[in-house]
Amino acid sequence: MSKHVYIKTFGCQMNERDSEIMVQLLSQSGYIAVGEQTDADLVILNTCSIRAKAEQKVFSMLGMLRKQKKKQPDLRIAVAGCVAQQEGEQIFHRMPHVDIVVGTQQLYQLPEMLGRLERQETTREISCDLDKEFTIPPFQRLLEEAPAPGQAQPAEFRKFVTIMQGCNNYCSYCVVPKTRGREISRPVADILEEVQLLIARGIKEITLLGQNVNSYGCTNAVVEDPTGFADLLKMVAEIPGVQRLRFTTSNPQDLSTELMQCFRELPNLCPQFHLPVQAGSNAVLKKMHRKYTREIYLEKVAELRSYCPDIAICTDVIVGFPGETEKDFAQTMDLLETVRFHGSYSFKYSDRPHTRSADFNDKVAEEVKGERLQRFQRRQDTISLERNQEFLGKTVEVMVESSSPSKARGRTRTNHIVHFTSPTDLLPGDIVLVTVTHAGEHSLQGEPVITESSL
Ligand code: 5AD
Ligand code: SF4
Repeated sequence: MSKHVYIKTFGCQMNERDSEIMVQLLSQSGYIAVGEQTDADLVILNTCSIRAKAEQKVFSMLGMLRKQKKKQPDLRIAVAGCVAQQEGEQIFHRMPHVDIVVGTQQLYQLPEMLGRLERQETTREISCDLDKEFTIPPFQRLLEEAPAPGQAQPAEFRKFVTIMQGCNNYCSYCVVPKTRGREISRPVADILEEVQLLIARGIKEITLLGQNVNSYGCTNAVVEDPTGFADLLKMVAEIPGVQRLRFTTSNPQDLSTELMQCFRELPNLCPQFHLPVQAGSNAVLKKMHRKYTREIYLEKVAELRSYCPDIAICTDVIVGFPGETEKDFAQTMDLLETVRFHGSYSFKYSDRPHTRSADFNDKVAEEVKGERLQRFQRRQDTISLERNQEFLGKTVEVMVESSSPSKARGRTRTNHIVHFTSPTDLLPGDIVLVTVTHAGEHSLQGEPVITESSL
C-alpha cells in the first residue's frame, strides 16, 4: 500500500525547490504527495528561520501536529530546512513527537533516514552537520526517473533551478550562513542538464536560484573551469526553448557590469531585478556589514537602467536595525524616493541566534520599528501604484498562470501580475498580449489583444 506525504514549506524559493526535491526523492520510495496533512502518514515541515516570526510559525504548527499524532500514533513528523539546521537536537527536547530532524545539506538522505525508522533500526533520526566539503548532488536525474510525484500536478510551465547554496557574506543580522553553510556552487554541466530536461518537459520559464547568485563559481572547487554568473546566465539563455529567464538573489556588492549588460544582450532575460539594499544610511549599512554604500548602490541602479531603461527593480529593506536613528531612517526613505522601486519587501529588524547584531546593545524599540515600517510601506504602496500606472494603455506580453472560462491571470516580463478577460481556453504558459486598462497597487488589469495560437 502506498504511503502519503504532506509537505509544508516556509520561507524562500530555495526552500520551495528543496521541498520539490524531497517529494521527488520520496516518490521513488513509494510516497504519494497529498494536499492535506490529515491524509498523511508523513508530515514534513520545511522550515525558515530568517526572522523570529518565521520560526515561531514552525513551532506553533509542530504544537498542532502533537494532537494529530495522539490520534494517529504511526504518523511520522520530520523537520527539515533552516530551523532544523539551527536548532538540531533541541527540536526533540522541545517537541518530543518529532521523528526526524534533517538539515539543509542532508535532504538527499531523507529516504534512507525514513527507511531506518520504518525498519525500526532507530527510533529517531537526526542529520544536520554542516560540511565544508559538501557538494550538491546531481539531483536533476531525478526528473527523468520520477515523472509526476504521485498526485495529478497542475500543468507546470515554470521552475526554479538551484545553482548554488549557502553564503559567505556574514551580514551582521543574518542567520543564513549558519543555516545554509558556506557558499557552494553546482557544476555548470549539472545546471545545464537540468534546464534541458525541464525544457524537454514543456517548461518555459526558468528562475536560477541562490542566496547570492552574483558570486556563483567564485568559491567552489567543484566548478573546474571558472565560470562566473554572467557566463552561466548566457549559457542558460542560449538553451532553445527557454522563453523567460530570471534569477534571484543578488548582493549589490558583487553586481558586475558584465551581468548588468546581460539585460541589454539576452532577449529572453526578463527585465526584472531584485536588488536588496537593506538600508539607505551608510552608517547602518556599515554596521550591517554590507560592503557597499548608498552611493555605490545608486550608481548600480543607474547603470542597470542605462542598459535596460524599463527594468523593474525591487528591493528588501530592514527597518529599526540596532542604532538606527530617525536621521538614518530618513536616508532609507530618501533612497526609496530616489530609486522609486517597483516593489519592496520590508521587515522589522529581528534578533537571530548567533548573529553579531543580536549582541548589539542599542536596539530600537518595537513601537518605533512598527511605526517606521508603516511609514515605509505606505510610501512604497503609493510609488508602486504610480509605477503600475505607467503601464496604462500599453500592450504587454503576459505568460498565463491560471485561467477559468472567462478570467485569466498571468505575469508580464517585468513580473507584474495581470488579470484579464480570457478570450479562449488558455493554458498555463501560454503567451497573450494584453492592453493594460487599470492599475492597482499590487496588480494590473487589461484586455487581451492577440494570443499565441492566433499569431
Ligand atoms: N531581521 C529582519 N529582516 C531580516 N532579513 C534577513 N535577516 C533579517 C533579520 N534578522 C531580511 C533581509 C533579507 C530578507 C530575505 O530578509 O531584508 O534580504
Ligand atoms: Fe528562510 Fe533564509 Fe533559510 Fe530561505 S535560506 S528558508 S529565507 S532562513
